[in-house]
Amino acid sequence: MKKTIRDFDINNKKVIIRCDFNVPIKNGIILDDNRIKESLKTIKYALEKRAKVILLSHLGRVKSEEDKKKNTLLPVCKRLSELLDKKVLFSKDTRGVVLEEMIKNMKPSDAILIENTRYEDFPNKYESSNDDKLANYWASLADVFINDAFGTIHRSHASNVGIASYLPSGIGFLVEKEINKLNLILDSKERPFVVIMGGAKINDKIPVIDNLINKADYILMGGGIANTFLKAKGLDIGLSLYDEESISYCKKVLSCYEKKIILPVDALLGKKTDVSEKAVYYDFSTKIGDYKIFDIGLNTVQAYAQILKKAKIVFWNGPLGVTELENFSNSTKNICQILKESKAKVIVGGGDSASAVIKLGFKDSFYHISTGGGASLEFLEGKELPGLKVINNR
Ligand code: 3PG
Repeated sequence: MKKTIRDFDINNKKVIIRCDFNVPIKNGIILDDNRIKESLKTIKYALEKRAKVILLSHLGRVKSEEDKKKNTLLPVCKRLSELLDKKVLFSKDTRGVVLEEMIKNMKPSDAILIENTRYEDFPNKYESSNDDKLANYWASLADVFINDAFGTIHRSHASNVGIASYLPSGIGFLVEKEINKLNLILDSKERPFVVIMGGAKINDKIPVIDNLINKADYILMGGGIANTFLKAKGLDIGLSLYDEESISYCKKVLSCYEKKIILPVDALLGKKTDVSEKAVYYDFSTKIGDYKIFDIGLNTVQAYAQILKKAKIVFWNGPLGVTELENFSNSTKNICQILKESKAKVIVGGGDSASAVIKLGFKDSFYHISTGGGASLEFLEGKELPGLKVINNR
């Protein structure tokens, strides 16, 4: 059992809380602040306990000076101040005397956000290579380390794994909640248990399919992952996105678990990922030509609905179509509605599926929407997560 923030007396102590504020930002505007909102519980708790709260997070990938400009955490600091109704100080330096002075001047219940930890990745990859000096430096700024960045828990970086080896450490409320909810899937005896797999990539989902195939009663396919299975079955998918390297894996899975793997029976086609693109119906009975599959079709949605209506527990990872285009987001929207009306406990794996579900207006309709994309998948693969492993046990 891992220690949590509750296990520490943090009154008047400097507490680093590692958050995952890796949120989509365009021209300084935050497009989805769900991860920030999900971090508030731990931050508020620490502030109420009179800790001096030092927040760390990464944002995007930083490989150039240009990336630094694009990936500043300043908009997050502003949003955080609004949500907390309290001024959160911002350190534009990730290390150095100015930052140290700011921390020295902190009073109990003050909060400071340090600039994107991945600024330390350019020109040298200090953050993502878990540089020991950097980890030790950040640890020297505080008395306690709390990891509440579930979305990054599968990474072994200086700001999550490195620091934790130098300070007394625990997890925050968000990480605790994510683990409890995702464990429900691994431990569940409730039946039927249905998995919905969508999204563009397939190869990083193979280990998850491997781990869930014996637990799940059905795996319903959509997105690029479905295309790869359809191609493996010998169906014409035209110019659709698929993964050639995974074809033999898909053939094997289809031959062993024919009744469990449920594939689309129809689809909506398009050519360009453009908002004006019109959907063309396709039922796999003719040639697809130079079209691409952009969404599953209505008959597929109806077939999936029959299975989902009886489900007791559902895990959903990856949108079923190109949800950024209105004409190809209907199946994802319809499945959201079917799940909302069902009695199943629905857990949505993070990343694109979480953003799609929230954007389509279903944020409060499900049992759990994970803040972790890769992290929730690796958790369900049964992998040991480095950011969790390093945290002190009770
Ligand atoms: C995520 O968005 O999945 C996490 O914040 C991890 O980000 P990364 O894939 O850039 O490490």
